[in-house]
Order: sequence, then structure tokens, then C-alpha cells
Amino acid sequence: MPKSTLIGDLADLVLLAPPNADQPIDYVLLDRDHREDVADLYLASYPPHVGAADLNDALAEMDSTYAGDFGTLIPEASLLALRGGRAAGSIQVVHRSPWDADLDCPFIIELFVHPAARDHGLGRSLLTRAAVACQRLGETQIALRTSDEGGTSPAAFHLYQLAGMRPYRKSVQSSGSDGSTVGRGADRAGIPSSADPLITIERRRDPRATEEILRALPDWFGIEDAILGYVEDARSKTSYLAIDDGRTVGVALLESHFPQSVELHLIAVHPNYRRQGIGKQLLAQIEDDLREQSVSLFQVKTVGASFDHAGYAETRAFYRSRGFLALEEMNGISWDGPTVIMVKPLRS
Ligand SMILES: CC(C)(COP(=O)(O)OP(=O)(O)OC[C@H]1O[C@@H](n2cnc3c(N)ncnc32)[C@H](O)[C@@H]1OP(=O)(O)O)[C@@H](O)C(=O)NCCC(=O)NCCS
Repeated sequence: MPKSTLIGDLADLVLLAPPNADQPIDYVLLDRDHREDVADLYLASYPPHVGAADLNDALAEMDSTYAGDFGTLIPEASLLALRGGRAAGSIQVVHRSPWDADLDCPFIIELFVHPAARDHGLGRSLLTRAAVACQRLGETQIALRTSDEGGTSPAAFHLYQLAGMRPYRKSVQSSGSDGSTVGRGADRAGIPSSADPLITIERRRDPRATEEILRALPDWFGIEDAILGYVEDARSKTSYLAIDDGRTVGVALLESHFPQSVELHLIAVHPNYRRQGIGKQLLAQIEDDLREQSVSLFQVKTVGASFDHAGYAETRAFYRSRGFLALEEMNGISWDGPTVIMVKPLRS
């Protein structure tokens, strides 16, 4: 059965909490005492060719899970959801993947919801609760395996996509979350999309390169005074650079308003390097650092959707993909037209 491994950032999964998460559901830690209830639930949740053929088969599967045949369960992140006292859904998370030796994060071996309990946000709730539990253990990512032959429902694929989970491929060069070297197009697990040169993220200033990058993006930065203002800012504000073989190809500037909240004042990636994961790498490094400083809100202001501009629509798509949520659109801040304020909670 074709399978692929997905990986996601726990911070993004935590944001998925459904609005109706407080429906009358009890979430309890998975326990051997639930063996028969969970086996029943497992049997009902998957088609026979995917899950168990009968109850004995389902019980054997659960016994293997408890015995650690698929990895050691993380008790805090392995849950059973009870609706009206009856088993309605379960998530089972192990410390490390039993299948991907170089994957260094918790791994969801099962997530299933009874057909009668679907479409109420239960899968989302189980996922976010497990994500919070893993975060509390100091983890930053989580992974799982999907199968496209009935083992993963369209709803589950949708959920993983919403959570920003992406394909995991074995790394050639390791992660850059500490500012070290990462493969271009790589995500934080070190997943290069090509054999391209390596990008490093560095915390230092380069006003000259900042100006060069802004001038190469006239659709976004076409006003001379604004460019000069940013170049001036690049001399004084906290600055992160994306470096390719000694050349600055991306820049991000920060402005701190309060100890708990920081604004992304500027982000720009040279047009030859856009859409290769560099903006994502810059933000990942910045967010790691902000979390370490106990900053809890990250905001960015950009051109609002009510102003028709294809480039800024892409910019908003980028921010949304990184977990920023639109808070409010206002006229007359930073320029005459609409500005949208987007925010992202940062949890440590
Ligand atoms: C916005 C910007 C900084 C993003 O950097 P980037 O390196 O191009 O973005 P990434 O490759 O890291 O993209 C990460 C994710 O964002 C989303 N995204 C990025 N560009 C997108 C686009 N043009 N359309 C839709 N989604 C986009 C995607 O989900 C992407 O992931 P994927 O490629 O795996 O699908 C860069 O494109 C840029 O400099 N844009 C022009 C200047 C600008 O808009 N600055 C901000 C002004 S407020």
C-alpha cells in the first residue's frame, strides 16, 4: 500500500484547536483497561481491508500497540475520547517512528474516530491535545504516515494539510533551527527539495544587500522613500539574513513593541530565490529565538485583501501558511490603502 510520511511543527498543530472543542467529550489517557473499547473502536473506524478483520484481530493489534511493537507510547499524548461514556476516537503517539530511523520527533501511529462521531472536530481535538502534550515534553515537531488506499480518509488528509504538515524525506544535511546550515528548500527537519547549494540563516545586518533585494522586488517595494527607510532600519533593527554561498539572498527585520510581542517589520527574499523555502527558514529561526525569549505574540502588517494586488495576495498566502491569522484590516496605517494586521501566537 503506498504510504508517505508527513511531518509538521507542533506550534502549527496547536493552533488547529476547533471552536467546538468543548463539546461534551471526555479525553482520558489511553490505558490497558481500555483494551476492548479501543479494539471495538478500531474495528468500527477502518474498512476491513485496512484495519482489523474481526474483533480478535483488533484486540491483537491493540495488544501489539501496548506491548510497544510500534514504538514506546507517549502516555500523555495517547488519548481516548469518550462521548456519553462510549469510546469515540483515539490518538496513539510513540516517542520515535518505528519506520523512519532518522526521524527525530514523536510519531502518531494511529488516529481514528468512530464513523458516528465524525464531522464534530474530534480528530482535530485529539491531534491538538496530543500536540500540546508533546510540546510540554519539549518536542517541536511530530510526524505520521498516511496511506492513499483507504487508510487515511480525505478528512484526515485535509486536517494534516490545515496543520501545515508536509512530506518528509530523508535528510542529506541536518536542520537549521539553531541557525546552522540547512538545505535550500529544506524544512526544519532538514528536508532538501533539491541538491541545491546550502542556505544558512544568520543573525546579523547587511543594509547594502537589503537595498539590493528590495530594489529587485519593485512590485512590493516601489516607493523610493520606503526603500530608503527600510535600508536605514537594516542598520539598527534586529536583522536575520539568509545566506547562499556568502551572498545575502533574504532578509528579515524585527521590531519589539513590548516584551511579549514582536513585529516582523520586513521580510524579503530575492526574486531568484523565492518559493524555495527561504522565507519559511527565516521565520522558523526567528520564531525559535522569540520563543526562547518568552515572546508570545508575533505580528506582521501587510497590504489588505480589499486592495487588489496579485503580489500581496501571495504575501498573505505565505503568512497564512506559516500560521499567521488575519486580525483586523484598517485604512491609513503605513500607507493610504488597507493594511491587514496578522498575528501568530508563539508557544514555548
Ligand atoms: C513573502 C516571501 C518573503 C516568502 O518567502 P519565500 O522564500 O518565497 O517563501 P517560502 O518558499 O518559504 O514559502 C513557504 C510557504 O509559503 C506559501 N507561499 C509562499 N509563496 C507563495 C505564493 N507565491 N503563493 C502561495 N503560497 C505561497 C507556501 O505555502 C510555501 O510553502 P510551499 O512552497 O511548500 O508550498 C517572499 O516570497 C518575498 O520576498 N515576497 C516579496 C516581498 C514580500 O511580500 N514581503 C513581505 C511584505 S509585507
